[in-house]
Amino acid sequence: MTRVVVHASGELLAAAAAARLITALVDAQAEHGVASVVLTGGRTGIGVLEQVRRSPARDAVDWSNVDVYWGDERFLPDGDPERNETQAREALLDHVPVDPERVHPMAPSDGRFGADAEAAAAHYAEVLATKASPATDIAVPRFDVLLLGVGEEGHTASLFPDTPYVKEVERTVVGVHDCPKPPPTRISLTLPAIRAASEVWLMTTGAAKAEPVAAALAGAQPVDIPAAGARGRNKTLWLLDAAAASELPTGG
Ligand code: 6PG
Repeated sequence: MTRVVVHASGELLAAAAAARLITALVDAQAEHGVASVVLTGGRTGIGVLEQVRRSPARDAVDWSNVDVYWGDERFLPDGDPERNETQAREALLDHVPVDPERVHPMAPSDGRFGADAEAAAAHYAEVLATKASPATDIAVPRFDVLLLGVGEEGHTASLFPDTPYVKEVERTVVGVHDCPKPPPTRISLTLPAIRAASEVWLMTTGAAKAEPVAAALAGAQPVDIPAAGARGRNKTLWLLDAAAASELPTGG
């Protein structure tokens, strides 16, 4: 099921997506005990985490029973302010009682794999495989909600158009090189790993995203518009502001 929800402004989108995420985690915990979320980088995704932090409802989530993963990471030194992990910790994770054992960041570029993005990606694939869910036919855990942003040329996670990475069908995690959006080296889940999630939420704002959003929803090829290939097993949710929705057919 694909749904498009349009909010009047980016601020409203962030607040409403935060409320939605809190509810989804509470519901997943009611069903499974432990909820799992895959985080994204980017202004919209981090803005949503900030809104979760500010929400009085955030304590409805048992944060000690949330598994936290990342859909992609900028391959930079530990603690670098541009790392998605650093930003997610500042926005939310440092402010709620998560269990450090349940928080699974991708390796930094100065960690045990040094500057070897392939080794870091292979290790993350192993982390996912050791927690693999029987509910999916691919070696990743049960992901209740997988958050994504969308780039101006249609990238999502760190899967950019016309690259071998967006075409990957075997591996669940890849080292990504020569990215047009800095930094050039990244680690990313692949489309098959993303599609194993129960729900995929693509969240984006601003007129610069209107074209890729419209193309993805019109059924573009993932190799051209990687966001077009991101969907959840049960639900694919596009959370947009009015500007990002402005190229959609009326009523879309
Ligand atoms: C990253 C991302 C990337 C991001 C989009 C949207 O690490 O850069 O995960 O896919 O989500 O580029 O970013 P904005 O919301 O800032 O436009």
